[in-house]
Amino acid sequence: MKKKQQQQHPGSGADPWPHGAPLGGAPPGLGSWKRRVSLLPLLRFSLRDYGFCMATLLVFCLGSLFYQLGGGPPRFLLDLRQYLGNSTYLDDHGPPPSKTLPFPSQVVYNRVGKCGSRTVVLLLRILSEKHGFNLVTSDIHNKTRLTKNEQMELIKNISTAEQPYLFTRHVHFLNFSRFGGDQPVYINIIRDPVNRFLSNYFFRRFGDWRGEQNHMIRTPSMSQEERYLDINECILANYPECSNPRLFYIIPYFCGQHPRCREPGEWALERAKLNVNENFLLVGILEELEDVLLLLERFLPHYFKGVLSIYKDPEPRRQVLPPKGTE
Ligand SMILES: *[C@@H]1O[C@H](CO)[C@@H](O)[C@H](O)[C@H]1NC(C)=O
Ligand SMILES: *[C@@H]1O[C@H](CO)[C@@H](O)[C@H](O)[C@H]1NC(C)=O
Ligand SMILES: *[C@@H]1O[C@H](CO)[C@@H](O)[C@H](O)[C@H]1NC(C)=O
Ligand SMILES: *[C@@H]1O[C@H](CO)[C@@H](O)[C@H](O)[C@H]1NC(C)=O
Repeated sequence: MKKKQQQQHPGSGADPWPHGAPLGGAPPGLGSWKRRVSLLPLLRFSLRDYGFCMATLLVFCLGSLFYQLGGGPPRFLLDLRQYLGNSTYLDDHGPPPSKTLPFPSQVVYNRVGKCGSRTVVLLLRILSEKHGFNLVTSDIHNKTRLTKNEQMELIKNISTAEQPYLFTRHVHFLNFSRFGGDQPVYINIIRDPVNRFLSNYFFRRFGDWRGEQNHMIRTPSMSQEERYLDINECILANYPECSNPRLFYIIPYFCGQHPRCREPGEWALERAKLNVNENFLLVGILEELEDVLLLLERFLPHYFKGVLSIYKDPEPRRQVLPPKGTE
């Protein structure tokens, strides 16, 4: 008898009544309690106990049968459930193992050029090893706008990356939901437009700390005269490069891939602001980088925990980070 009941329990007990819900006043839990009491002192094992056990079992089996034949639990269980709320087995015991991670696991940093992004990417390389997330970088640095097909392909590529991932590239905002993807969490860092203009002016001419040859790649055909042109003269004499400082440059990173996003104007600005509100977890400013890193550490600890101490630590900083203010 003991054996029989043990066989019954997992089958009929676990499925229809995961909570061990009572049926017809004969809860399975009570049955096994009763059995233990009567079996332990073997001498007191009586016919009455045996009958009680079998009756419990019978009611239990019949209930299970009706449940399955009738296509659902009896009415009073449904009433009970309505009273208790609509939680299900899955609600109480957690979903089956799924790929959804309990924190934002899809992060995109569509970094704006000359806004400190190289420093952040260096930090990300250290962090990705430390925290074991998937840092996906791109080799394409000069293509921020994409055709519809390119957007689709890139979004597909990003979405299939192993999570948690952080994708980063110089690219205008991509609308994942437009192509049926999950919208990732966006982060970005911008900078005072005048500082950005200054940084870009010198970067085009002399590169940055990365290498002395860098400027040869950026502006190989620039004449020596132009390369060593004083920025004050460039501005005062209204050279084309300085009369159009491209202050609008930052907006399309937040507005998106729509052609109107690249026309300086109200429409693009409003859309960029809307997007920042709806899709960006954080848009930091380079002038307050330490605060930005602290916020990232709080908002996305699985990616950025400890970033501030890495940034401030003089040792690795000397090895991997540029001196302050180079980007
Ligand atoms: C449970 O769901 C039913 C039908 O969907 C609904 O009528 C009922 O109000 C819900 N009960 C609770 C407590 O949410
Ligand atoms: C981007 O750079 C690559 C080489 O680095 C060059 O072949 C390509 O034409 C550039 N594309 C644009 C849009 O400037
Ligand atoms: C997508 O990934 C494939 C393979 O990793 C690569 O060859 C292709 O260039 C990627 N496409 C884009 C748009 O990044
Ligand atoms: C993204 O695409 C969805 C679906 O097409 C659209 O409803 C939404 O307005 C778009 N958002 C942006 C910022 O373009």
